[in-house]
Amino acid sequence: LSDPILAGTSVVITAGGTREPLDPVRFLGNRSSGRQGVALAQAALAAGADVTLIATHLEVQVPHGVHLVHASSALELREAVFEHAPGKDVLIMNAAVADFRPAKIENSKIKKRDEHSAPVIELVRNPDILAEVVQARSENSQLPEFIVGFAAETGDDQGTVLDYGRAKLQRKGCEMLVVNEVGANLTFGQETNTIQVLFADGSEAVPAAGSKLEVARVVIEQISHATKGHKRD
Ligand code: C5P
Repeated sequence: LSDPILAGTSVVITAGGTREPLDPVRFLGNRSSGRQGVALAQAALAAGADVTLIATHLEVQVPHGVHLVHASSALELREAVFEHAPGKDVLIMNAAVADFRPAKIENSKIKKRDEHSAPVIELVRNPDILAEVVQARSENSQLPEFIVGFAAETGDDQGTVLDYGRAKLQRKGCEMLVVNEVGANLTFGQETNTIQVLFADGSEAVPAAGSKLEVARVVIEQISHATKGHKRD
């Protein structure tokens, strides 16, 4: 049995990947399996938290004991977050949210007009839900005091994975960012994960690697440690 390190704490976790509709049968999606988000929900439950899981598209089972909310597209996810996050202690934005969505959702299936032509699909930007919640918090004290983002990063000749993580943490304005390195066969849809936890005060936790559940336990421990004494009454 694990320690009830989050007993009395309410946590909202977004998980999976959004689907952005194109027409009644098609969507733009991503490779997120939802494994890491579901593992976070399991670890938070085991730590005694009250867990609301906002699930987009998952390839894994939802654990028993969570309050389950469904959302499909980024816009639906935004609505669900703004409905369920107020009054909670912690928000973990783990879902892979599409950065773009089709500008127009066709009412009927997009047809092959002739032998050779293909449609051009115009995309528009989706809102950055994480950044919006952080911003909205300045005028709504009901929004969670502790907000956690996830970042899938790759390093390049301009900077390391951590450089990009630090910059993202600042841009988003959240309290904690869990950074993982991604590449062709790393992280997405895989069983294991390697993470580094960064905090807004400039500190960082030692890197952790292991199964998504092991990594989730580390994230939950870090959240528990960082939120001590900041719980709502
Ligand atoms: O900017 P980037 O997509 O790398 O940021 C990842 C973090 O931001 C994740 O926590 C993700 O859930 C969140 N996000 C969001 N809305 C978006 C894109 C990402 O909340 N449109």
